[in-house]
Amino acid sequence: MSASTAVAALDRQQVLTTLGRHWNPTAALMLAATGRQLESHARGTEVFGEDGSRALDFAGSYGVFLVGHQNDAVRAAVLDALDTAPSLVPGTVHPATADLFGLLTEILPAGLDRFALGCSGAEISEIALRAAYLARPERRRIVIVEGGYHGKTLGALTVLGQREHRDDFAPADRDLVIVPPGDAGAVREAVAGRDVAAVFVEPVLGGAYLRVPPADFMPDVARACRQTGTLLVADEIQTGFGRTGRMFAIEHSGVVPDIMLLSKALTGGFVPVAVVAMSEEVLSDARRSPQWYPGVLDGTGGSALSVAAAAATIRVVRDQNLPERAETVGRALREGLHRAVREHPRHLVDAPGIGLMTGLRTRNPSVENLISMQMAARGIHLGHSLNEQMDQPVLRFYPPLTVSAAEIERVLVALDASLDWLDRRPAWLMRRITWLLRRQYRLPPTLVLKLMHSDLEVNW
Ligand SMILES: Cc1ncc(COP(=O)(O)O)c(C=O)c1O
Repeated sequence: MSASTAVAALDRQQVLTTLGRHWNPTAALMLAATGRQLESHARGTEVFGEDGSRALDFAGSYGVFLVGHQNDAVRAAVLDALDTAPSLVPGTVHPATADLFGLLTEILPAGLDRFALGCSGAEISEIALRAAYLARPERRRIVIVEGGYHGKTLGALTVLGQREHRDDFAPADRDLVIVPPGDAGAVREAVAGRDVAAVFVEPVLGGAYLRVPPADFMPDVARACRQTGTLLVADEIQTGFGRTGRMFAIEHSGVVPDIMLLSKALTGGFVPVAVVAMSEEVLSDARRSPQWYPGVLDGTGGSALSVAAAAATIRVVRDQNLPERAETVGRALREGLHRAVREHPRHLVDAPGIGLMTGLRTRNPSVENLISMQMAARGIHLGHSLNEQMDQPVLRFYPPLTVSAAEIERVLVALDASLDWLDRRPAWLMRRITWLLRRQYRLPPTLVLKLMHSDLEVNW
């Protein structure tokens, strides 16, 4: 039985009950309330519902599915590794690992050719923290950007710029300096005392914010870091491998960081893996620390399966020139989104983005949710900000870089229709929906389902 028939054979109520009881009641409730189909399988830009329905995936798991779902070349590499890998023991150097490091050295800026492997973005954020503390042992302070995201494990939470997700878990902020996004002056001031080990920054701030910084931001930050011996850590977990129209987002500014974080799109969505790329200078500084020991920067990542998938994904990105495609095809999408903003100022603030890292900054959470639901009803999945407390959340459009011009056109036509539908809703209704959205997790689930006219039962 194929995976798709196995899912199709399950009763929807039963799946939601299992999800709600054993894992994620909020996700179960949202699936039940919105009537969104459970996905049975996916291919290219399309995901297929349990009932045979098809939808265009412009959410892409927030950037994971960069080369589309089930990319043939990556799939073949994974299957081959499954059959031929000599060992899955982490730390083993087999040909696929050497292949991956060779490819990374070719596409990364010169000098970033020392690597450490992990399984997730959060894990490599912690490896970068360890490297920074080792390389600058006399410094304890870290600079982060307000709203920045580097993962949710305890160490990664120390450098999380989203206070609401950090404060209950992370240690006190005494060694943390939080600067506003895009404010190089604040970074310069923060590192001036030469007591900061590292600045963590996303070259384009992702999350529910999606902010492209001013052109001089990264060069100014890099200069301030260089002048004060502070390490610059560029988190390219969401921006890397072409999403912004260049292989890496830092290429827009010509800046070369000391440490770079890579994950998400790296294996085409098949196997989780994450890579820290560092300069030899960082490593040789770190080795001089009394805290250094071999393996201090290692994690469990780097199975044969994951490195083979990563190498194959990089080849697809490079050989199909996907960064350039993100730039050209992305222009059409961004123009369409800008047109929507001009035509619907009552609902939309702007259309931030670069390449195919795009979105709509909405006037309030009800606009974001209603567009998202209207688009879903028209067979388009978008990337919800997952943040109803924000005043102007950004609804994200992150299609695979293999997306066709026709698929983009289809999305823009659906967006027009969704916004026309929204235009016919009165302002009081929008305010009421925002009020409800902000309290939805505290409302009785049965009431939420009733309000959404769902006939499913909450029995978890
Ligand atoms: C920029 C950035 N950094 C780090 C992470 C954390 O990655 P993970 O969820 O694999 O821990 C993410 C995940 O969304 C991210 O977007």
